[in-house]
Amino acid sequence: MRRNRSFLVLGILAAGLASGLAQAKELEVFSWWAGDEGPALEALVKMYKAKYPDVSVVNATVTGGAGVNARAVLKTRMLSGDPPDSFQVHAGQELIGTWVVADRMQDLTPLYKSEGWMTKFPKGLLDLLSYKGGIWSVPVNIHRSNVMWYNPAKLKEWGVTPPKTWPEFLSTCAKLKAKGLEAPLAVGENWTQQHLWESVALGTLGTTNYGKLWKGQIKFTDPKAVKVWETFGKVMDCSNKDASGLSWQQATDRMLEGKAAFNIMGDWAAGYMATTKKLEPGKGFGWAASPGTNGTFLMLSDSFGLPKGVKNVTEVNNWLKLLGSQAGQDAFNPLKGSIAARLDSDVSKYNSYSQSAAKDWKANKIAGSLYHGAVAPESFTSQFGSVMEIYLSSKNANAAAQAAQEVADKINLGK
Ligand code: GAL
Repeated sequence: MRRNRSFLVLGILAAGLASGLAQAKELEVFSWWAGDEGPALEALVKMYKAKYPDVSVVNATVTGGAGVNARAVLKTRMLSGDPPDSFQVHAGQELIGTWVVADRMQDLTPLYKSEGWMTKFPKGLLDLLSYKGGIWSVPVNIHRSNVMWYNPAKLKEWGVTPPKTWPEFLSTCAKLKAKGLEAPLAVGENWTQQHLWESVALGTLGTTNYGKLWKGQIKFTDPKAVKVWETFGKVMDCSNKDASGLSWQQATDRMLEGKAAFNIMGDWAAGYMATTKKLEPGKGFGWAASPGTNGTFLMLSDSFGLPKGVKNVTEVNNWLKLLGSQAGQDAFNPLKGSIAARLDSDVSKYNSYSQSAAKDWKANKIAGSLYHGAVAPESFTSQFGSVMEIYLSSKNANAAAQAAQEVADKINLGK
């Protein structure tokens, strides 16, 4: 009898434990928004926790600007059948050309329909997220790639204004060098140089031809495209020699500290300067479209999706609903330096930099970022890093152009 009772007690305990385990709800959010880049994501996680207090959120970040390390970790996890519940990925080819074509993502069209999102996001952005009749992720923002940052007080002191074209940039650079500024342009590690390259390409080729490059309608070996490398080389001659050891934040710091005059970086730099450094836009930092690109918004968008085979589907759907909501976007983006992807965002919640970006987003021509996944698949961008290395070590524009075209041919870029 006694024995039976203890079995009963054990049984009840075990059942309780099992149901407790079954009830433990979890959501893993995977991104590269760590450290300085964390506040905007943390604001979203806080909102999620307030709404779903019984879910424990694992904020899994892998440090490294632009996802240089996170993308490699993600690849390993996806390929080993251990996908995070939801992960950061750029809208466009970075998602479509990898995990969507490999049939690893869930179609989110039903979510877009039930949340009424089909009309809440710009059509062009929905196109970027779509492939073969499905919509594959939820965009949380729009970032601008082609921004040139400067310190207004310093430019005044040096007697220069933000250059409007690349030739003008080079003459401003010479002027600043003559004044003793060794490296007028601050650049960082390899990816930030590829980031700079896309601004040089857009400003040299113009918006139409820049777009044609990604569709395979202009070859990298075309004299127009070779000229991009030639200009890029001259621009790099204006930059610091210790670039490879600097993060994007450290490169931005060089400009803020007056050790450099300019830094070309996406507007997460505005988030860094306003949110982390507490600087006032227009006073603590100034901005202009990168040379030759005024009137064009070189865009990219961070998004999150639902991989196939994850356990916490309800929790992910609730996460995506929050990301795509007006309240979620208007909590995240003012801290991030980006603008909302939604059309109905409340601009009064944003600082003057973001308000000017929002205006340009509506009025400008739109082009897609290379490095941040909008226009070319990862099979191209990952090898473009080696093309960049070839150029930096040889300074041979034709060799770089040839190497870029070989990669484009190999992966059938634009086809
Ligand atoms: C981009 C990303 C931005 C920002 C930046 C620097 O690729 O879209 O949100 O995180 O990298 O890390």
